[in-house]
Amino acid sequence: MARRALLVAALALLSACDPDTVVHKVGWFATMRHQRNIKPYARPIPPVEGAVPVAGAELPLTRELADRLANPRTRTAESLNRGQWVFQTYCQVCHGERGQGDGPVSLAGGGPFPGVPSLVDPTRPKMTDGAIYGMIVEAQRMGRGLMPRYGDKIHGNDRWDLVNYVRNLQLNARGNR
Ligand code: HEC
Repeated sequence: MARRALLVAALALLSACDPDTVVHKVGWFATMRHQRNIKPYARPIPPVEGAVPVAGAELPLTRELADRLANPRTRTAESLNRGQWVFQTYCQVCHGERGQGDGPVSLAGGGPFPGVPSLVDPTRPKMTDGAIYGMIVEAQRMGRGLMPRYGDKIHGNDRWDLVNYVRNLQLNARGNR
């Protein structure tokens, strides 16, 4: 009887503690915690040199390569609507609603970010669709390294729909010429 009471008391004591802190104090439970894995907020392990991605990697884009890319998406209303959504989500903060470089984050719009160009200035050299695509995917490589990279955030058709939308902003700014 007394042993039973002791057991109940021990169990009550145990359950009063936070199981997460108690469990790993028991030797053979600790193996769950101390294993070779990536801990929360830890830096992921870089791939071994020479490793080949098998889950779909992208070839690095160069300026010459980008210029030669053909736009596979026709500038339909559907494409433009999608492109507008992507633009508003990722680009408008800097380039502004009409692409004039005056978004709220841009210096021109009262923000701290310098050097955001207008996308609709007709005096700037005209970019090919592929060059705009290149800026979306690999701005760090295509430009002077001032614009963040969006290739890891914008995928698939969204990229070309965004190209179409930027082109449309330019056409509208130039009175469709
Ligand atoms: C954090 C601010 C910022 C955001 C967000 C941003 N850009 Fe930019 N963008 C820049 C800056 C700065 C440059 C100048 C880049 C350089 O010269 O390196 C630039 C340059 C460009 C250019 C080249 C323009 C030219 O005439 O040379 C294009 C095209 C462009 N951005 C498109 C986009 C698109 C599309 C998005 C949305 C995915 C976007 N940008 C998001 C800051 C930004």
